Amino acid sequence: MSVSRDISGLFKWFGGAPESYQEMPRDDIRFADEPAQFVEPVRSPVAPDTTPPLPPLCNLAAMPAPSNAGEGASDVWSAQGLQGRLARLRGEATPQPSAAVPSRIVAVVSAKGGVGKTTLSANFAVALQRQGHSVLAFDLDPQNALQHHFKLTQAMTSGLAESSLRDWRERCVSSESGVLLLPYGDVSEEQRLQFEQQLIDEPDYLARRLAAMHLPSASVVMLDTPPGPSVYLRQALSVATDVLVVTLTDAASYTALSKIEGLIKTYAQARQQAPDVSFLINQVDESRQLSREIKQIYQELLGTQILGTVSQDEAISHALACNCNALEYAPDGVGSQDILGCSRVLQRRFAATLQAV
Ligand SMILES: Nc1ncnc2c1ncn2[C@@H]1O[C@H](COP(=O)(O)OP(=O)(O)OP(=O)(O)O)[C@@H](O)[C@H]1O
Ligand SMILES: [Mg+2]
Repeated sequence: MSVSRDISGLFKWFGGAPESYQEMPRDDIRFADEPAQFVEPVRSPVAPDTTPPLPPLCNLAAMPAPSNAGEGASDVWSAQGLQGRLARLRGEATPQPSAAVPSRIVAVVSAKGGVGKTTLSANFAVALQRQGHSVLAFDLDPQNALQHHFKLTQAMTSGLAESSLRDWRERCVSSESGVLLLPYGDVSEEQRLQFEQQLIDEPDYLARRLAAMHLPSASVVMLDTPPGPSVYLRQALSVATDVLVVTLTDAASYTALSKIEGLIKTYAQARQQAPDVSFLINQVDESRQLSREIKQIYQELLGTQILGTVSQDEAISHALACNCNALEYAPDGVGSQDILGCSRVLQRRFAATLQAV
């Protein structure tokens, strides 16, 4: 291509009149059709150069050390890192950096079925959201029932168990209460088995997937689990910071406590930091002697490990019949008031950690 065509092309791109172009005489310009001439550079003796060398364009060793303890070297140049620095420059409050894992992961568990895990997971999620946390209600149970405790505009069929799903955030739905919900999903038997195999093969699967969600640092995840031993319970206990054991005031629930204690020990033993374990006594009926007595025995045996008690309250099961949680369905009901009281205790238990983030 000739130089003049090159020039008129450039003027076309950037605007201007090619006639106004003036070429500056340069001795060292050489065109492609001119033969290259190798000229030996003149090496005249010069005084040693004392100017400091230019810094390399990207010297990783010389990169600024992160000023924020929570900020890794690779985060320094991230969009969040920039936002934080801009905010500091402008004297604003620094936005909280996203934590790799949320601050609190509460696994709601039991050895015996039907004790109220799903009901309490949903209601605690709503209560904690009202108390100012960002809450993710996470259904790790193939029953896929957690969603029935939230008012949703449409039933959710997809969820976390779909193996094709790369980003769990895509399947989260926001409920009226503000709680983010991740359903298990209405998957085929084949998909369920595939998912469970993945959980068996990758013991840190849940931890990795939760970390990849980049939930806000002060968030709380309520993990609903199926009863008894399962791959789901094992995954939940490998990542939970808090384990909430739900039990009833009947003989079957009483004797099942040793089973869940054993499972917690087995599944959480490989962890460096053991989760905090507390107990919730659900469906207490003060009008029944056995209920009162078993509650008393629990109190004697478990003491301060008991988070609280929730009364037997018909409004709680009626709420479920209306696809709703008890706090929204019957806010002044005894069950709702008990749940709110327990959630305040739960919040106090992890307030110190959340503030430290
Ligand atoms: N405090 C309560 N008062 C009255 N009914 C309750 C209470 N807690 C839970 N229920 C009812 O008990 C039933 C079982 O509750 P839920 O499904 O939450 O138990 P679960 O432990 O999750 O069961 P599963 O082990 O099958 O997952 C539901 O009908 C629910 O409405
Ligand atoms: Mg359940």
